[in-house]
Amino acid sequence: MRIYACADYRAMSRRAASLIAAQVLLKPDCVLGLATGSTPVGLYRQLAEWHQQGDLSFAGVRSVNLDEYLGLAPDHEQSYRRFMQVNLFDHIDIRPEHTHVLNGLAPDPQAECAAYDQLIRELGGVDLQLLGMGHNGHIAFNEPGDDFGLETHVVRLSERTIDANQRFFASRDEVPRQALSMGIKSILHARRILVVVSGADKAEAVRRAFAGPVTDQVPASVLQLHPDVTLVGDEAALSELKEAGGSLCG
Ligand code: GLP
Repeated sequence: MRIYACADYRAMSRRAASLIAAQVLLKPDCVLGLATGSTPVGLYRQLAEWHQQGDLSFAGVRSVNLDEYLGLAPDHEQSYRRFMQVNLFDHIDIRPEHTHVLNGLAPDPQAECAAYDQLIRELGGVDLQLLGMGHNGHIAFNEPGDDFGLETHVVRLSERTIDANQRFFASRDEVPRQALSMGIKSILHARRILVVVSGADKAEAVRRAFAGPVTDQVPASVLQLHPDVTLVGDEAALSELKEAGGSLCG
């Protein structure tokens, strides 16, 4: 695993964006696995900026997003489809039909999940998967205790995740209790994985994920088993990992 320790959120965003840009430059028709949450917002802004300066084109790129709330329409303010439009897709030249986000209103959620796995296979798999991390070590919406062997599936959100995500909704009651999410198995299939973390409130989760045992109680810990993982974080998020003796570079 490669670890890049960056001074702050801005530097972290720039570093992560440069790794994604390099992937796109090396393989213009690559498949990017994309993530939501506040952590990737800065790196998406950086990618959009490079595109607007004429330095980076996404015209051949295909994207698949990790997850979506069950029950939210694609144009709902807090849907992950809308998040992707607002934070990235509307500012770059990716073709709309090349962007894929699970449909939170699918009449048959299980069938939607199966079709998504099939789609990823037809695209040839994910070249670079971007991931954020929840405070409990969740990745996408794979919560502690979830089976590592699952591909895309319907998940019930943990109370901690509902608490963390209520800041985006008018009240806690409005936070959906379920989501559609790529599973750990889908994530591990990606050829390369890029994890972004920021802020002192993630420090414990980062240490548990990367300096602790691989356990389903900390879903991100499974990334220790993947052969090509890059972790990019700011000093605050990496502080406990550093204390635990993680070898840092960059
Ligand atoms: C949500 C998303 C995750 C994301 C996590 C952390 O639960 N499903 O993919 O990693 O939030 O978000 P943030 O970056 O806002 O801390």
